Amino acid sequence: MSVKVILGLQNGDEGKGRVVDDLCATTHNPIIVRFQGGANAGHTIYDENGNKSVVHLLPSGVLNPNAVNVITRATIVDPIQLVKEIKEFNVQPKTLLVSNYCPVVMSLHIEEDKLKYQHRLGTTAKGIGPALKDFIARDNFNLHTWIDKFYYLEEAKFLKDYVGDAEGFLRDMVSYGRNVILEGCQGYSLDVWGEEYPNVTSSCTTIGAVFYSTRLNHKQINEVIGIAKIYETKVGTGSFEELEPALSEKYREVGKEYGATTGRPRKIGWLDLDLLKEAIQVNGVDTLIITKTDIPPQIGTLRIKTQEDYWDIDTSWNDKDLSPLLKLLDRIKSYTGVNKIGYTFGENRGCIKI
Ligand code: IMP
Ligand code: MG
Repeated sequence: MSVKVILGLQNGDEGKGRVVDDLCATTHNPIIVRFQGGANAGHTIYDENGNKSVVHLLPSGVLNPNAVNVITRATIVDPIQLVKEIKEFNVQPKTLLVSNYCPVVMSLHIEEDKLKYQHRLGTTAKGIGPALKDFIARDNFNLHTWIDKFYYLEEAKFLKDYVGDAEGFLRDMVSYGRNVILEGCQGYSLDVWGEEYPNVTSSCTTIGAVFYSTRLNHKQINEVIGIAKIYETKVGTGSFEELEPALSEKYREVGKEYGATTGRPRKIGWLDLDLLKEAIQVNGVDTLIITKTDIPPQIGTLRIKTQEDYWDIDTSWNDKDLSPLLKLLDRIKSYTGVNKIGYTFGENRGCIKI
């Protein structure tokens, strides 16, 4: 049995969803847990026939018939959006349990986000900041209270069967030895407690969120898996060193770098290795997975940023000969001090190599 945490180490959009989806497909009866963020996330997943979907609130295991999905209490839940996704993916109550205690997003929060923060901070306008602001001020509802109060709404009645003691269930499952995958959202540089404040999301995006949301303790975590793209992207405001426009455009087109939630074009930059090293240390990452390694060879130019200089990378690898990539991964491993390193190449399932 194992309890694994998946965390984004950049600005979100590192490919966490596809890594979770992939791990889920090779894990015996997994329990997939969302513990943080809300409908601001957009995780791209594939079914066994390779059809692509995007989930915002639901855990990335919903297309796996053997997975049980759990949403724990620090996840910000928009009940209307949740019902929409449950219906879209035809998720049955026996495969999804949502915590009684999640803060809710209501329509006034979405309005406030649109009016005050969408333009100023480039938010996803899903109401996350305003909902959490009210929650911390104790002017919002936990999900179970919202259901009782608004029981005349079709959505409240519908959700009743899906909501309960998610953290108690998870604790029991861990003690029975079940395999658990905890799915992080956003990434290290978007942490509300991080140095990019106020150009951040409203929640904690580091390992700390796991504990207060799931009520598991640190001794119960067997592996922390950090995800980073081989280049960097960002949506929203804040400091970000962009590539020159023509090269950005190439990466955006080949890498399909448009927001999964908002459709916005993402800014493109080079991987910052010192920041990555910091994210690995802060989160106690055991295994680093570098995603989208199939993109640079299609473009021919790749650099990696370190404190002293830029590394110019030989991008001549392909699916038959990956040796230049493996050499690069070795270099990243020794620079960052991470224990294990792996990668994804291409989009099909089963392509994580460690
Ligand atoms: P909010 O989370 O909607 O309040 O947005 C705050 C900042 O976080 C903005 O810069 C968003 O673009 C960014 N953000 C939030 N969620 C994600 C995500 O899942 N991927 C990438 N960026 C995100
Ligand atoms: Mg995303």
